[in-house]
Amino acid sequence: MSRQYHVAIVGATGAVGVEMLDVLERRKFPVSKLTLLASPRSAGRTLKFRGEDVPVQALGPDSFAGVEIALFSAGGGISKEYAPLAVKAGAVVIDNSSAFRMDDDVPLVVPEINGADVKNHGGIIANPNCTTAITLMGLYPLHKKFRVKRVFATSYQAVSGAGAQALEELRAQVSAIEAGAKPEVKVFAHQIAFNVIPQVDVFVDNGYTKEEMKMQGEGRRIMHLPMLRASVTCVRVPVYRAHSIAVSAEFERPVNVAEARQAIEAFPGVRVVDVPAEKKYPMPLHVAGKDDCEVGRLRLDCAMDNGLAFWVCGDQLLKGAALNAVQIAELV
Ligand SMILES: NC(=O)c1ccc[n+]([C@@H]2O[C@H](COP(=O)([O-])OP(=O)(O)OC[C@H]3O[C@@H](n4cnc5c(N)ncnc54)[C@H](OP(=O)(O)O)[C@@H]3O)[C@@H](O)[C@H]2O)c1
Repeated sequence: MSRQYHVAIVGATGAVGVEMLDVLERRKFPVSKLTLLASPRSAGRTLKFRGEDVPVQALGPDSFAGVEIALFSAGGGISKEYAPLAVKAGAVVIDNSSAFRMDDDVPLVVPEINGADVKNHGGIIANPNCTTAITLMGLYPLHKKFRVKRVFATSYQAVSGAGAQALEELRAQVSAIEAGAKPEVKVFAHQIAFNVIPQVDVFVDNGYTKEEMKMQGEGRRIMHLPMLRASVTCVRVPVYRAHSIAVSAEFERPVNVAEARQAIEAFPGVRVVDVPAEKKYPMPLHVAGKDDCEVGRLRLDCAMDNGLAFWVCGDQLLKGAALNAVQIAELV
């Protein structure tokens, strides 16, 4: 029998955590034992894995005895505090938060792009920002062909990207408004139902948000392109699940749409959906729940030389989080 692993999920009850359980099961990851960890609020709950009820335990310093692979998805603060403890207990940590993504000694990995970086880990491997990961699934095959120089992008980010409570907030606001009541605003800075909010994460000194600067910072690390420049506007939209990004990218080499399309089609984990005459293009409703990202609206960018414009959609709970984390675990 092949080797089986004791796997822990920290943040198992969250929007990403429950997807991790599903992806582990769906991809038949060799799990010998599954430890589910969350806040004390969830202790005693159970979650289904391979048809069995697995109890959720409150996370504590002693939670990692015997754990070999720990998937962290409970926010940066929890990762900073507990990931080193998990490593000390002998686990390899795959972290979904932004806590370690820019650390030189922590590989930041999208398996299809820089899977080989996994071998440089010293106990922790970081999973990229969801908008960055989905954008790169469209951009990287084009970069390999034409060498990308800079990127302009706008994101249309689903509420579930901000967690289970944010998902609930959109549902509750839609119901309240339909019932003629005042919608309650808790998670987002403004009402998200029937609105778009041009702010994801906090603002930094240059006027961008942290989320927007991740595309450049993380893109540089993942694609090994220290000179990449990216100007991004991240927008929260009232979509439950799956992010979309409109991208204009400038390349060193002359570009053409036919070769661009071939490059994307030949790349694993991404599909071309691009028949404008039949109104076929990627949409969040269509990629929600799917492993592959989709690229469409591929065209020569009319505002720059050697530029391509495209639209990419991906399920941020999967390729932007749970799926990518489990793919990293498979590499480990
Ligand atoms: N959502 C996405 O699309 C996405 C994509 C990429 C990365 N991420 C990152 O993944 C992480 C989780 O995101 P999420 O969207 O799944 O959030 P979420 O739905 O709010 O879930 C948070 C999880 O963390 C647990 N938790 C909170 N406080 C805790 C504590 N003190 N001790 C132990 N566990 C605690 C929660 O447990 P309880 O249920 O008990 O409160 C829950 O399981 C974040 O770092 C986020 O930035 C999210």
